[in-house]
Amino acid sequence: MADVINTQGHVRLGSNAGQGLTRRDGVLKVTGAATYAADNRPEGLLHAVTATATIARGRVTHLDVAAAEAHPGVVKLYTPDNVPPLAVSPDEKIHPFVWRMEALQSDRVRYAGQPIALVLAETLEAATEAARLLAPRYEAETPHVTLDDAEPFETTTTAFGRPADHSSGDIGKARATAARHVVAEVETVAQYHNAMEPHAIVARWTGDRLEIDTPNQAIGLARQTFAAFLGIEPAQILIRSPFLGGGFGSKAILYGGQLLAVLAARDTGRPVKLVLRRDQMYGPVGHRAPTRQRLRLDLDEDGRIAALQHDTLTMTSSFDHFLEGASNASHSLYATAALQTTHRGLRADIGTPGPMRAPGEAPGSAALEVAMDLAAQAAGLDPLAFRLRNHAETDPSNGMAFSSKALRECYAQAADLFGWADRPAEPRRMRQGQLLKGWGMGSAQFPCPMFTAAAHATLRADGSAVVETSAADMGQGAWTALAQIAADGLGLDIDRVEFRSGHSDLPDAGVAGGSGHTATAGTALFNAGADVVRRLVDLATGDPASPLFGAGNSGVTARGGRLHRNDDGRSEAYEDILARAGLDMLRGEGTGAREGQPTRAMFSHGAVFAEVLVDPDLGQIRVSRLVGAFAAGRIINPRLARSQLLGGMVWGIGFALQEEALHDARTGRFTNNDLAGYHIPVNADAPMIEALTVHEDDPFVNALGIKGVGEIGVTGTVGAIGNAVWHATGLRSQRFPIHPESLI
Ligand code: MOS
Repeated sequence: MADVINTQGHVRLGSNAGQGLTRRDGVLKVTGAATYAADNRPEGLLHAVTATATIARGRVTHLDVAAAEAHPGVVKLYTPDNVPPLAVSPDEKIHPFVWRMEALQSDRVRYAGQPIALVLAETLEAATEAARLLAPRYEAETPHVTLDDAEPFETTTTAFGRPADHSSGDIGKARATAARHVVAEVETVAQYHNAMEPHAIVARWTGDRLEIDTPNQAIGLARQTFAAFLGIEPAQILIRSPFLGGGFGSKAILYGGQLLAVLAARDTGRPVKLVLRRDQMYGPVGHRAPTRQRLRLDLDEDGRIAALQHDTLTMTSSFDHFLEGASNASHSLYATAALQTTHRGLRADIGTPGPMRAPGEAPGSAALEVAMDLAAQAAGLDPLAFRLRNHAETDPSNGMAFSSKALRECYAQAADLFGWADRPAEPRRMRQGQLLKGWGMGSAQFPCPMFTAAAHATLRADGSAVVETSAADMGQGAWTALAQIAADGLGLDIDRVEFRSGHSDLPDAGVAGGSGHTATAGTALFNAGADVVRRLVDLATGDPASPLFGAGNSGVTARGGRLHRNDDGRSEAYEDILARAGLDMLRGEGTGAREGQPTRAMFSHGAVFAEVLVDPDLGQIRVSRLVGAFAAGRIINPRLARSQLLGGMVWGIGFALQEEALHDARTGRFTNNDLAGYHIPVNADAPMIEALTVHEDDPFVNALGIKGVGEIGVTGTVGAIGNAVWHATGLRSQRFPIHPESLI
């Protein structure tokens, strides 16, 4: 369709994209009218509560089932002795986004907090009390829950089939010619997603049809997974997931509890609701595993990186496979003649880790940016000058050109706004009152994956439209940004476009993950709208009664609900075209995916500058300023993009200074599985934050030029804060979060 393709071969969006509209679901959310999964209370509802293991390894030898069943209000109780079986093996990998389905298969305990029984009762209180009455007894074994004592295992992949090791260039040769090298050793700790909304499900069977309310980041895949494990067809299942109170990766993958609730609903013939308590989300629903990383950077005389080695040790559960791909963060950011990265895995008595906001990149970037600061010091260069000297013109891991890379502009704009030029090179040179002040920086990078999505667009007789795709809005504003893209595809003002999403009977929008949802689902929606416009153009230009008759050669532009001739500007309204053709609607379809093998390296980039204040006596650290500039292709909604970037940077504060899940090493149990003990940043921890976006026109990443903003904010930020702490104090913590005791 020549009228929406510009000369550079990518799509020209209309006037809806680029506007900083507020969230379309904002009023529903702030007035409490938005219903989340746990708000559903169908007639005849049973409440389910899981009993969870208080040991981390061993067997359940006894449950007082009789006592629990005798409790008033209890309807049914499931243990491994009577749980309905899954239709296929729990090990079955239906698709890459499925873990081993833990659904009370045996008395084995593999991690603390593992569900060991499910109680159904008429009230939540009765189910809770009955679960307590089970009073489990165990045969406990010594658990291994730390990087020091877990068991090594052989693996060639990290996760989703990605290779564990990478090598390019001749590292031996590069090192032989290098002038000096630095080594950085950095540890990161276990983190839990802690979405505000807990994992929840309400399951109801009507005959052989299953209705599920559950927050989910990948509804189509979830439906496939449920169908396979239940032995039914996906078409028999309707999943509703209209609102998610955060996901961060933990709601992308189903867990055993969700399946248990569905099995229980089928078995009892009544609707079942299961809502996890905060402490029950520590274990069964994924987390970010700890890492121990070592980087070696060899430098030549001029401060150029000759060789970069990044090795990661991390751990997974005893029964499934997910390794935090931290070393991958070093693949594509800085130029180097030789690159070598590895991952080694351990098996521990923990729940299976999984993707958590910027999986791999977040801890990997933290360690890389610390190593870069050490290397800058060794080279006698300012940290920013050092990064500019090692700016990669092509991706060092594969030699590909970047699809676009406005990283230099990010450095320039953020450094300018921050005032980086005034930074003294030596540490401990700046004070604010009694406090030591330090400045540090880091580069940000995140890949631009695309999944596959489909969408429908229907133009109505009155010239308004409805668009449909089952996208997931975790709070990031997807429904708003996607509606903007859809409206541009249709050539309509956004107020004329109804956006339907969030349930599985709609076309599948793919995974809201990998920062690829807007690009993928947006492409499908745009194409669906463009399909409608194409049909309209055919109707109008072929009709002698239309002012557009014969405009085919000069072209037609769709805008504001009208088709406009490019030659003489005459136009016709959509509703008039439909009316004359005798149509009460016109329907279009679209898909979104990346075609073929990529020929360019595709990443969002950014630069983050941090200021910290450190109490020299108490070691207390406060981030007082953060400035980030990010180049992420075309920004569909600047308000929402900024919000995502701010959120990512705040997450970086938590990573750098606060978040840490603690186990008692003897019992393997958590000691802080609640939001009182597991610290995340609150408003008082979040300082003045500036998040700029730098314009990028990317003709390669996809037709709309969209990259992604969901995860990049955390990358760069953690290292920048660590480097600022060094600049304030002259002390380097080898561990995130940085605690006061490592500074005094
Ligand atoms: Mo994410 S960790 O791609 O939801």
